[in-house]
Amino acid sequence: MKTIIEPFKIKSVEPIRFTTQEEREEVLRRARYNLFLIHAEDVLIDLLTDSGTAAMSAKQWSGIMEGDESYAGARSFYRFEAAVRKLTGLKNIIPTHQGRAAEKILFSLVGGPGRKIPNNTHFDTTRANVEFSGAEAVDFPTKEGLDPDLRADFKGNMDTTALAAFIEKTGRESIPLCMITVTNNSGGGQPVSMRNIRETAEICRSHGIPLYLDACRFAENPWFIRQWEKGYASKSVEAIVREMFSYADGATMSAKKDAIVNMGGFLALNDDQLALRARNLLIVTEGFPTYGGLAGRDLEAIAQGLEEVVDEHYLHYRVRSVEYLGEKLTSAGVPILQPPGGHAIYLNARKELPHVPPDLYPGQALSVELYRAGGIRSVEIGSVMFGKYDPQGKLVPARMELVRLAIPRRVYTQSHIDYVAEVMIEVHQRRSEIRGYRIVQEAPMLRHFTAHFEQV
Ligand code: F0G
Repeated sequence: MKTIIEPFKIKSVEPIRFTTQEEREEVLRRARYNLFLIHAEDVLIDLLTDSGTAAMSAKQWSGIMEGDESYAGARSFYRFEAAVRKLTGLKNIIPTHQGRAAEKILFSLVGGPGRKIPNNTHFDTTRANVEFSGAEAVDFPTKEGLDPDLRADFKGNMDTTALAAFIEKTGRESIPLCMITVTNNSGGGQPVSMRNIRETAEICRSHGIPLYLDACRFAENPWFIRQWEKGYASKSVEAIVREMFSYADGATMSAKKDAIVNMGGFLALNDDQLALRARNLLIVTEGFPTYGGLAGRDLEAIAQGLEEVVDEHYLHYRVRSVEYLGEKLTSAGVPILQPPGGHAIYLNARKELPHVPPDLYPGQALSVELYRAGGIRSVEIGSVMFGKYDPQGKLVPARMELVRLAIPRRVYTQSHIDYVAEVMIEVHQRRSEIRGYRIVQEAPMLRHFTAHFEQV
């Protein structure tokens, strides 16, 4: 059959609240045009993030009831450990309360001044944790990965030539580990090919540098490998996942993505000595090594989610529903980063609103308009998030002005997605009237969370 259906039926529902255009205008005014400052109850369709926003299955909810809350050695920990080990093959599995806690522990141990961490593209918390330790975070996206209009496979890849040259120049001693982020979230949710992971691993191995995966979307990535990469069409997703991890010496994970839970994460690594130090730090910052920052019930839900996420019907539906939204927008002429990513569509606001200059934040203008028109919350990934000021106080814009529509897992149906497309297309038709926003108040760091704006 041609129709890809949601591979589940819905047992429990949560109402969403409809608002009028006047109400939304008032909500926007009160939130100073910053969508982070809106109450979630005033949002109809929330595409702010795919992180921690998933719908859990009946089996995950029953795991919540069955969780063993023993302080040490809980049954739920061993179930969690076995589930992670089955997929990753990694030796030491350390639970944390979310992805950035795993990053914090890892980079507290291997980072520090003078150290450099290469990655295809660091996610912002990863970069922040590297930099917080005093080390430098260096990105090596490919040229194709930087061209939003180019339709190419595996635009999330690492530029291995640049990486090899960087290692030669920098020297192995300053590089405690190399990372690959799958899928490449900051690069448009684009996948990384198995070949690229293998080549990166070979380069790292030849210099004695461990390779770590930022594995948040470790199941969506193999779905693309299976579709696009020669030799993988008949392999099971689980086999592809295991091959991916076979090239890695460790991984950080936000279970809020591809473990389909609302909270959780882990650090996994083969190096016993480093693991010992990580567990010691974990005890100080997160908790005893058999629960990290989590309750036993959370560990149960993660273990179950890790089984469900590699189900092929689930992944087919998941990746196809994002692509479906991308196709609808593309055929209406809405410029998006091509091709659609695994977890999100990224609208190209620079192209959509060419009359709004970077210092009036076209991405912000477009995301505010989506809320105003249809109660949809998205997130600006452009000069509000990544813009910097030069010494004269002039804005140095971000490389791209994007608006991310991230799709929560198993939450919205096809008609919700149809509605999102309809709203966006309506906004697109009157794009020339959309005006920019000025920042009137901002924090020195991570200003996008709290900034206040004023319509121009
Ligand atoms: N790495 C990647 C690639 C991520 O996308 C995220 C989170 C993290 C690490 C950190 O994990 O939130 O559990 O601490 N991304 C979310 C997003 C916030 O909206 O893309 P965390």
